[in-house]
Amino acid sequence: MQATKHAESDRDTDSKAAHGASDTDPDAQYDFMVVSNRLPVDRCAADEPGCEDGWRRSPGGLVTALAPMMTKTDGAWVGWHGAPDEHLQPFSHGGIDLVPVQLSTHDIEFFYEGFSNATLWPLYHDVIAPPEFHRTWWDSYRKVNRRFADAVIHHASPGATVWVQDYQLQLVPKMLREARPDLKIGFFNHIPFPPPEIFAQLPWRRAIIDGLLGADLVGFQRSSDAGNFMRSARRFLGASVKQQQVHVKGSDGVTTHIARAQAFPISIDVQQISKLARDPEIIERARQIRQDLGNPKTILLGVDRLDYTKGIPHRLKAYEELLADGKVTVEDAALIQVASPSRERVEHYRLLREEVEGTVGHINGTYDTLQNTAVRYLNHNYPIDEMVALYLAADVMLVTALRDGMNLVAKEYVTARTNNDGALVLSEFAGAADQLKQALLMNPHDIDGLKDTIMKAVNMQPAEAARRMRSMRKQILDHDVDRWSSEFLSALEEKVIRDDS
Ligand code: G6P
Repeated sequence: MQATKHAESDRDTDSKAAHGASDTDPDAQYDFMVVSNRLPVDRCAADEPGCEDGWRRSPGGLVTALAPMMTKTDGAWVGWHGAPDEHLQPFSHGGIDLVPVQLSTHDIEFFYEGFSNATLWPLYHDVIAPPEFHRTWWDSYRKVNRRFADAVIHHASPGATVWVQDYQLQLVPKMLREARPDLKIGFFNHIPFPPPEIFAQLPWRRAIIDGLLGADLVGFQRSSDAGNFMRSARRFLGASVKQQQVHVKGSDGVTTHIARAQAFPISIDVQQISKLARDPEIIERARQIRQDLGNPKTILLGVDRLDYTKGIPHRLKAYEELLADGKVTVEDAALIQVASPSRERVEHYRLLREEVEGTVGHINGTYDTLQNTAVRYLNHNYPIDEMVALYLAADVMLVTALRDGMNLVAKEYVTARTNNDGALVLSEFAGAADQLKQALLMNPHDIDGLKDTIMKAVNMQPAEAARRMRSMRKQILDHDVDRWSSEFLSALEEKVIRDDS
């Protein structure tokens, strides 16, 4: 990918970037831009774990996947830096040029917590929680999308490639196309796209589809997501859809361009995880973790943002029943649940936290002994080295999502198991299930099935574990995140051959 940065002005700026970062030209133009709600770094307080010079790595799979590409590219990343009402000039951090977009306290409440995370997030995740529809939230969503689009319009050089990310910014592709028809516009949806029967509930369904269709290429995690999107384009906009091509018409009924919709399953930085997994200090840390837990026969691990889509209560219920049945004991097994704080001011997230903490307290109160604890619940963010040490320490990884675009934790665990041991219990409702067919796949709603699958993982013979792990590792090693981004970007560059047949 060719990307150059053109300095248009070298005038000083009055507002400086934060510590640990250096200012860049506020009018620089770029041939390649990524746009996402969050920048790869997030504002933090000095006493928070993982906070260095006022910044820490942003949460979630999106940043995990895109950061490696951006450190190797001469482009810029447009996004929010995680603090309300703070205006920052463009700056560079960790080798990436960043263009911060400001969000006010009102925007955070209406655009981010409201429309993005209490309307779209539940709607796109099988309505596990009921979505709320408020016109004031929608107004804010439009205004904030406009602000992101304006930042791109200011910084994109003529003919630049712009890659817009995720559900928070679905109106940006059309805004860009209207203002800058010279741009190549890609969009990638990191979360599922719902079937039209569910998407139909959204009062602004036409505007969302229309916004996405501003892109030349709309990427999804699974081919079922791409199919859902094309069915919605047909049903709600009357678009003509042929194969993977949506013919987008102007108000005069003439086709203005063709948007393609296709699956590009996202992945992880395989090299980084493999290197950490072979680092003697991290291997020693994994040994230490096992020892601190009293060297149990089996360590089970869950790693999630504390989100109701992740199926944490289902996992705890299954584990509690296994303890009650005597199939596992606190002497022989320990469950570590890392649940990193997320969207804590949104009501359903607050309720989930109360539920999970109540259940963990109940399980531990019932089954702990003075020496052993049933569930180690860790409501923190950890740096990647500590995560890899946990992956190395864990015999069984539990990914029980009720719906998940991909789930990169599953891919990280498999990549870290360089000895081809360990077992992955994986929900069939996570996008990763399409690629990791040798995982122990299960339906997390079926608690008996989940219990059986956990026991199968706990008791799996080394030869079977190695056969499964080898096959999953091969899949991921062949399809790392570099391949994901280069396949998307080369598809974006391809000339569209009209399929009018
Ligand atoms: C998921 C989404 C991302 C989001 C991340 C963290 O991975 O796909 O867009 O950034 O969760 O959530 P947050 O609300 O903290 O940005």
